[in-house]
Amino acid sequence: MSYPFQITTIEQYHEDYKRSVEDPEGFWSDVADTFEWKKKQPFSSRVLEWNFTEPKVKWFEGAKLNITENALDRHLKTNGDTPAIIWEPNDPNEKTRTLSYKVLHRKVCEFAQVLRNNGVKKGDRVCIYIGMVPELAIAVLSCARIGAIHSVIFGGFSAQSIADRLEDAGAEYIITCDGAYRGAKDIPLKSIIDDALIGNKTVKRVIVHTRTRTPVSMLKGRDVWWRDEVDAVIENMHDEVLDVPAEVMDAEDPLFILYTSGSTGKPKGVVHTVAGYMLWTTYTFVNVFQYQPGDVFFCTADIGWITGHSYIVYGPLLAGATGLMFEGIPTWPDAGRFWNIVDKHQVNILYTAPTAIRSLMSYGLDPLKDKDLSSLKVLGTVGEPINEEAWHWYDEHIGKKKCPVVDTWWQTETGGILISNLAGVTPSRPSWATLPLPGVQPLLVDEKGEEITEFTDDVMSGNLCMRAPWPGILRTTWGDHERCRQTYFSTYKDLYFTGDGAWRDEAGNFKITGRVDDVLNVSGHRLGTAEVENAINMHASVIESAVVGYPHEVKGQGVYAYVVLDGKRRKEDDELTKKDILATVSRIIGPIAKPDKIQFVSGLPKTRSGKIMRRILRKVAEGELNNLGDTTTLLDPAIVDEIKEGKL
Ligand code: WTA
Repeated sequence: MSYPFQITTIEQYHEDYKRSVEDPEGFWSDVADTFEWKKKQPFSSRVLEWNFTEPKVKWFEGAKLNITENALDRHLKTNGDTPAIIWEPNDPNEKTRTLSYKVLHRKVCEFAQVLRNNGVKKGDRVCIYIGMVPELAIAVLSCARIGAIHSVIFGGFSAQSIADRLEDAGAEYIITCDGAYRGAKDIPLKSIIDDALIGNKTVKRVIVHTRTRTPVSMLKGRDVWWRDEVDAVIENMHDEVLDVPAEVMDAEDPLFILYTSGSTGKPKGVVHTVAGYMLWTTYTFVNVFQYQPGDVFFCTADIGWITGHSYIVYGPLLAGATGLMFEGIPTWPDAGRFWNIVDKHQVNILYTAPTAIRSLMSYGLDPLKDKDLSSLKVLGTVGEPINEEAWHWYDEHIGKKKCPVVDTWWQTETGGILISNLAGVTPSRPSWATLPLPGVQPLLVDEKGEEITEFTDDVMSGNLCMRAPWPGILRTTWGDHERCRQTYFSTYKDLYFTGDGAWRDEAGNFKITGRVDDVLNVSGHRLGTAEVENAINMHASVIESAVVGYPHEVKGQGVYAYVVLDGKRRKEDDELTKKDILATVSRIIGPIAKPDKIQFVSGLPKTRSGKIMRRILRKVAEGELNNLGDTTTLLDPAIVDEIKEGKL
């Protein structure tokens, strides 16, 4: 497979960037021509229709296609035997599985037929809660094949979180498995689903894959086994090769919903549509990582997050690439696990998160001994700002200073990478994401939304926005378009607001400094402070709470909770109460949201109008006790002293 849109020189980057801004319709039509369409756009339609007021974004509306025909069928003719997914199990002693494009295509067709047999139709929402096994990718692609909208939920979310998402999405179908292996743990996924379904009246069918052979309850009429269903399809198959016709989808039909945290309320369902997402994930995959046919690409993310959607499932498969999918975690059975995998499968491109790098750094160089990393050509990071120390360690000890490091900035809402250097084509710079991809028009604004144009000490600093839509931008938030407008398009007129702060230098390079809203980024996972507070407040003894982030050596940010207990507090029980609060948060959101630190306080610093002054709480959590700024507008300034003392 060749990539006519692959940028190979810095001059071409500048030329392509210029054209993408001056003639976005022409530019993206050329990229679109490299895919297979069932029907081209009607002659009279515009390639792009948009405004950021409603907001409305439509790319190639009226054109018809199916994304799985592009990710699977079109590779069969020439690359059917190319490995599509190499799967490395949690336990290094278990056998690796390799699925060629031919095999993956067949399995997706079989399971797509299973879905149809179970009544799933185009537009239906299917919730997927499976560990990192190939069946997860098969489930995702099978939904896409029949036009069902998938909504994958990460294994670290609780039954309550799943129940909320099922309800919000109006999901009638679930695909899950008995359990998932993660390091030394065995997570009972089906049992969590059973809890999520208590009281649920909309889910008609749960399809259960077997991975851990954990005993599970199976309800007659609702729960069926994946394997039985597939066997039934194979038995009834008439042709030698089962080829389930792919549903005809409009370019702007929804492809999936993925829930993500914001600064207010419950997580929202970010919606991506078929064609724009297809173009964006392929284009960014091929250009940022400079993928060459034959390369083995290892993205260490979980498919439960956007990185796994875009760079384990869709981007690599659309590009006909060979991707490596890993079930386990970087530190089990030991901290050499990633390096083992790189060595064993001769990985060429490694894409991971700064948290993983920092965590592995802390084990020193021993785990790298006797590991052959010479196959590596490109290294990537994603999910949170990377500190220079981690960047240099990655570059020096993993890339041996011969692999370009791409620092890729993007979000669930952006579908794929927006700002990054292109490996070996545009220069890298430690802890800078550098330049926008073609089609991406970033700008920095001040609090009032005025564009910042002045440099102070060689950089300008402000809130990061986008001026115009790229093909992969979110289209709406599921069931609540107004929320989408409010969250992303109302802070600054006619701009998409990312929620991040950034610097820009005179050459147009960007460095992302972190969230400027009430969103935390813990180990590269997004959490809303309000969401965590709501969960803490569910504990019977809690009156109120305030959650802030603080710098954490490995996680990037840690969760610090200030909690006010009711009058019945017994100090000797404090440690137990803290554990109870952690258990409550685990139950309401999931283990990933558990605070790292809890401090009991008698009150929170509030202004006379009742607003919590988070600035002060943040400072205390960061340990900056002597530099709290103006506290005179507080209702009860004495509370600050108490909080400071409690911290000491
Ligand atoms: C942060 C993950 C600095 C950022 C793909 C963004 C980053 C949020 C980077 C989105 C990076 C992501 N440098 N910060 N290279 N990549 N972020 O939706 O704050 O899980 O807004 O998407 O992660 O997180 P999300």
